[in-house]
Amino acid sequence: MNDTNILEVNGVSRVFRRGGMFSRNTLTAVDNVSFSIDDRPQVFSVVGESGTGKTTLARMILRLVEPSSGEIRLLGKPVNGKDRIDNFAFRRLVQPIFQNPFEAFSAYLPVSTYLRRTALNLKVARNDREADEAADQALRSVGLGLDRVAGKYIRQFSGGELQRISVARALIPDPKLIVADEPVSMVDASMRMNIVNLFRQIVEEKGVSFIYITHDLSTAYYLSDHVSIMNTGRVIEQGLPSDILDNPSQDYTRELMGAIPTIGARWTELEEIDRRYPTGDRATTESAARHQTTS
Ligand SMILES: Nc1ncnc2c1ncn2[C@@H]1O[C@H](COP(=O)(O)OP(=O)(O)OP(=O)(O)O)[C@@H](O)[C@H]1O
Ligand SMILES: [Mg+2]
Repeated sequence: MNDTNILEVNGVSRVFRRGGMFSRNTLTAVDNVSFSIDDRPQVFSVVGESGTGKTTLARMILRLVEPSSGEIRLLGKPVNGKDRIDNFAFRRLVQPIFQNPFEAFSAYLPVSTYLRRTALNLKVARNDREADEAADQALRSVGLGLDRVAGKYIRQFSGGELQRISVARALIPDPKLIVADEPVSMVDASMRMNIVNLFRQIVEEKGVSFIYITHDLSTAYYLSDHVSIMNTGRVIEQGLPSDILDNPSQDYTRELMGAIPTIGARWTELEEIDRRYPTGDRATTESAARHQTTS
C-alpha cells in the first residue's frame, strides 16, 4: 500500500448472475483487475471493445456497483465495505462524466440552477451567490461562463456544449479524480478533439486526474499518460501509450490498432499542430491546419 496513490484497485472482480435470482449461470464482467494511479495529475486510459468490463470497472470505482471480491482504495481509504470513506467526502473527491451529457442534468431545471444546486449540495458554497461564483469558475475552466448558460435548459445546448458543461459540473467540488466513461462517443465528431484537449488542459491547470474509458485507442494514445487494455474482464496489458502502441505484446491490442491504421500518422499530425499552435482552441486550429495542408 502506497500512501501517495490516489487510487488503488487490488484484485477486483465483479460477477453477475445471469438469468434470474436463482440461476447458477454467472458472468465475470471484471476479472481480478489490479492497478494504481499515483498522485501525479494524469490521464489514465482504459481501452477495450464492447462488453470487456470497462463500465463495470468504472461503476465500481464510482461506488455505483459493489465488487464481488478485491478492494478499491481512494487516498488509502476503502471505497467499499464497512470502513468505507463516507459518502459526502467520496463525492467531493471523485466525480463522474457519463457518455450521454443529456442524462447528467435535469430536463426540468435550467443548467445554471442545476450547477448552483450541485455547489450547495457538495457544500462548496454557503449561499446562492457563492454557488453561482463556483459554477462560473468551473464553467470558465471549460471555456464558458455562467453568463453563457444562465437560464437555459439542456435542450438548448448541443451535445458537445453540454458535455463541456458536464465537465464543469464535475469540477465544482475540485475533485482529485474524474472518471469519464466514453465521454466523447456521443459527441459530434467535430467536437471530440476539443473535449479531449480540454481534459488535458484540466489535468495541467487544475491537477485533477482522469480515468478515461474508451473504445478508441487513437484518442487514448494521444491523450494519456498510461493505457490499460481490457479484454474479457481482464487487463491484458498496460503501460506508457508509446510502449504499448510501438510494441504491443498482445494480439488483441494489435487488433485494436488494426482498426486505426493511421494512428502513427495521426499522432505526428497532432504533434505538428501542437508545435504550430501552442495555445488556443485545438478544434479550431486542427481544422485550420487541415485547411492549410489541403490548400
Ligand atoms: N448489471 C448487470 N447484470 C448482468 N450483467 C451485466 C451487468 N452489467 C454489465 N453486465 C455484463 O458484463 C459485461 C461487461 O459489461 P460492461 O458494461 O462493463 O462492458 P463495457 O466494456 O463497458 O462495454 P461497452 O464498451 O459496450 O460499454 C457484459 O457482458 C455485460 O452484459
Ligand atoms: Mg461501457
